[in-house]
Amino acid sequence: MTASADHPLAADALDGLWSDPPTLPTKWLYDERGSRLFDEITRVPEYYPTRRETEILQEHSASIAAATDASTMVEFGSGTSTKTRLLLRAFADRAAQTGNGFTYVPLDVSTEILESSAVTLAADYPGIAVEPVVGDFTAPDLALPPAPGPRIVVFLGGTIGNFDDKERAVFLERLAAALAPGDFFLLGADLVKDTGRLVAAYNDKAGVTADFNRNMIEVLRSGLDAQGLYVDDFDHIARWNPRRHRIEMWLRARRDIDVYFEVLQRSWRLPRGAEVLTEISTKFDRRALDDELGDAGLPVVQTWTDGAEDFVLALSRR
Ligand code: AVJ
Repeated sequence: MTASADHPLAADALDGLWSDPPTLPTKWLYDERGSRLFDEITRVPEYYPTRRETEILQEHSASIAAATDASTMVEFGSGTSTKTRLLLRAFADRAAQTGNGFTYVPLDVSTEILESSAVTLAADYPGIAVEPVVGDFTAPDLALPPAPGPRIVVFLGGTIGNFDDKERAVFLERLAAALAPGDFFLLGADLVKDTGRLVAAYNDKAGVTADFNRNMIEVLRSGLDAQGLYVDDFDHIARWNPRRHRIEMWLRARRDIDVYFEVLQRSWRLPRGAEVLTEISTKFDRRALDDELGDAGLPVVQTWTDGAEDFVLALSRR
């Protein structure tokens, strides 16, 4: 059995599949196919967060650049997004006006994505120094690159919702420790709203989110060399948990599942109707989010929202 640091999926499966309820870390949803499907999700009509956040950035990126006057922007989980470009444009314009340099540091676990997007961005924004860093922003020893002036860490997309309450507190604590007084943190967070709209955003009619969730089964099957594990034996479930104010995505067995994982040298059973938790997406109340950031030593200095108040960008200053 090779379930250790050299086979993180095996370690996570051993840890999670035999838990009650069974669960798997969300990151395994984002293999190449999963990342492509997520990109598709951002364009389905029911999934509003990306459009709302983009709307806020279109409107307010210049104010964010002016309010922070940052010399360096570190982006957590950067990917390749168009939203980042709105901020970069604003900071590049400001740098051109003030005559100060500006550095963009995308931080991501995927070397390939970082390298390809760094090349494109450097070409598109000649006034900005692009200095990608391969790293995990959830690491205990989180360190930020030194900078000649205030830094701004940006964490967009509502991805903070993927953390549970405890993980979120730990993340904010480590971030606050890594920031110097006067540095900024720009956070994108999705807000609590009508349950019907929330559930629809995670259960689109075209079935893209269902494919995205069920792709986890394929990741397990291929990664752990599983026999008896089939994507079609699982239903995608998205449900609102009112107590924990979060959307939960589950995979529900359509029949009794009996799998043998070659890599684990272990069988796994899941009775018909039982479910595996694959992702949480916590939704926030504006006041509670302010308090939470303040308690973490990251007091909010300004917030922006879209016309429908679906999504919020909160700017904190360490
Ligand atoms: C990328 C974590 C922000 O929680 O809304 C979208 C992921 N999952 N649809 C979210 C997701 C299903 C998304 N985040």
